[in-house]
Amino acid sequence: MITMASSFFASFAPIALVFFLLLGNSSAQLTTNFYSTSCPNLLSTIKPVVQSAISNETRMGASLLRLFFHDCFVNGCDGSLLLDDTANFTGEKTANPNSNSVRGFDVIDNIKTAVENACPGAVSCADILAVTARDSVVILGGPTWNVKLGRRDSKTASLSGANNNIPAPSLSLSNLISKFSAQGLSTKDMVALSGAHTIGQARCTSFRAHIYNDTDIDSSFANSLQSNCPATSPSGDNNLAPLDLQTPTTFDNNYFKNLVNKKGLLHSDQELFNNGSTSSQVTTYSNNPSTFNSDFVTAMINMGDISPLTGSSGEVRKNCRKTN
Ligand code: HEM
Ligand SMILES: *[C@@H]1O[C@H](CO)[C@@H](O)[C@H](O)[C@H]1NC(C)=O
Ligand SMILES: *[C@@H]1O[C@H](CO)[C@@H](O)[C@H](O)[C@H]1NC(C)=O
Ligand SMILES: *[C@@H]1O[C@H](CO)[C@@H](O)[C@H](O)[C@H]1NC(C)=O
Ligand SMILES: *[C@@H]1O[C@H](CO)[C@@H](O)[C@H](O)[C@H]1NC(C)=O
Repeated sequence: MITMASSFFASFAPIALVFFLLLGNSSAQLTTNFYSTSCPNLLSTIKPVVQSAISNETRMGASLLRLFFHDCFVNGCDGSLLLDDTANFTGEKTANPNSNSVRGFDVIDNIKTAVENACPGAVSCADILAVTARDSVVILGGPTWNVKLGRRDSKTASLSGANNNIPAPSLSLSNLISKFSAQGLSTKDMVALSGAHTIGQARCTSFRAHIYNDTDIDSSFANSLQSNCPATSPSGDNNLAPLDLQTPTTFDNNYFKNLVNKKGLLHSDQELFNNGSTSSQVTTYSNNPSTFNSDFVTAMINMGDISPLTGSSGEVRKNCRKTN
C-alpha cells in the first residue's frame, strides 16, 4: 500500500502542482520585483507625483490610501474602482460608499501619465494604486514596506459589489468582522487597517447618527462636532470633520488613543473599543505605535493580496479610467 501510494504521488504530484499554480492562490504570483526589467524606475517615477499632490493638499494622502481599500474590496485589487461611467457602462464611482466621497482620481491620472512616459504599456493601474497607498502612508509619517506587484487591470467593475462589500460606518463590530472576513481578512487585520483613520476627513452624513444618538461617545466631543453637523439631513451633509481630531495629517496611533477616550468619529470606529473582543487590540495600539505600524504593514500586504488578476487575465490599461 505504501509503495502504491508513493508511486501514485510520484505520478500525479507534478500535475497537482500545475493545477495549484493555475488555480491556487494567485497572489503567490505577486512579487516585489515584478517590474525590475519592464519598468526599473517605477517607484522613483511614482513617488514625486504623490509627494507633489500631498504638498499641494495634505488630505490627498488619506484620499489616495482609501482608493486602494475601495478597489481591493470589490473583486480584488484590480483597478475596477478607477473606471468611469459611460453611456453603456456603469462602474463603481456612484456606489453609496464612493459617491461624493472618494477622491484623488486626477492624481492617479497624473501618476499614470508619468508612468506611461517612463514605461509605455507596462504598469497596471491596480499596481499604481498599491504603490501610491504605500507612498502616501510614508509621506505622512507612517511605516514603509515593500509593495508586492504584478496585478493586472479588470475589464469590468461592480456597482453592487461596491455597495455590498465596502463597510458602512453604521455597522456593528460583528458586521465589520464579517465584511473583512468575506475578503479573507482577519479581525486583527480589520482593527489594524482601521488605523488608516488616523488621517483624513469624513462628512457629517457619515457621523451624524453617532454624534446625536450613540451613547458610547464623549459628550463634549459630540457637542463640539454638532456645531458643524446639524441634526437633520440634508443640512450640512457634506461638512467635514477629521477622523483623528488631534493629528489628521500625520500617520500615527492617535486614532487608537481617541477610541480609548470615546472620541471615535464614526460609529464603526468606536465599535472597535466598546467592550467587545477587539478592545484589547485597540488598547495595545494606543500604547504601542510600533506594534500598530508593524500590524498595519502586515494587514496592508494581506489586503493587497486580495484576488489579483495575474498572468494573462485582465489587461494593462492605457488610461486608468477606461478599458483598452
Ligand atoms: C473598518 C471599516 C471601515 C469603515 C466603516 C470606513 C468608513 C469610512 C467612512 C464613512 C469615511 C468617510 C467618508 C466620507 O464621509 O466621505 C472613511 C474615510 C476614510 N477611510 Fe475608511 N472605513 C473603513 C476602513 C478603512 C480602511 C481599511 C482604510 C484603508 C486602509 C480606510 C481609509 C480611509 C481614509 C484614509 C479615509 C479618509 C479619506 C479622505 O479624507 O479623503 N478606511 N472611511
Ligand atoms: C491643489 O489642491 C486644491 C485643493 O486644496 C485643488 O483644488 C487643486 O486642484 C490642487 N492643484 C493641483 C495642481 O493638484
Ligand atoms: C459603448 O458606447 C460607445 C459610445 O458611447 C461606443 O463607442 C461603444 O462601442 C459602446 N460599447 C458597447 C459594448 O456597446
Ligand atoms: C436618532 O434616533 C431617532 C429615534 O430612532 C431618529 O428618529 C433620529 O432620526 C436619529 N437621529 C439621527 C441624527 O440619526
Ligand atoms: C463598557 O461597559 C461599561 C460597564 O457596563 C460602561 O460603563 C461603558 O460605557 C462601556 N463602554 C465602553 C466603551 O467602555
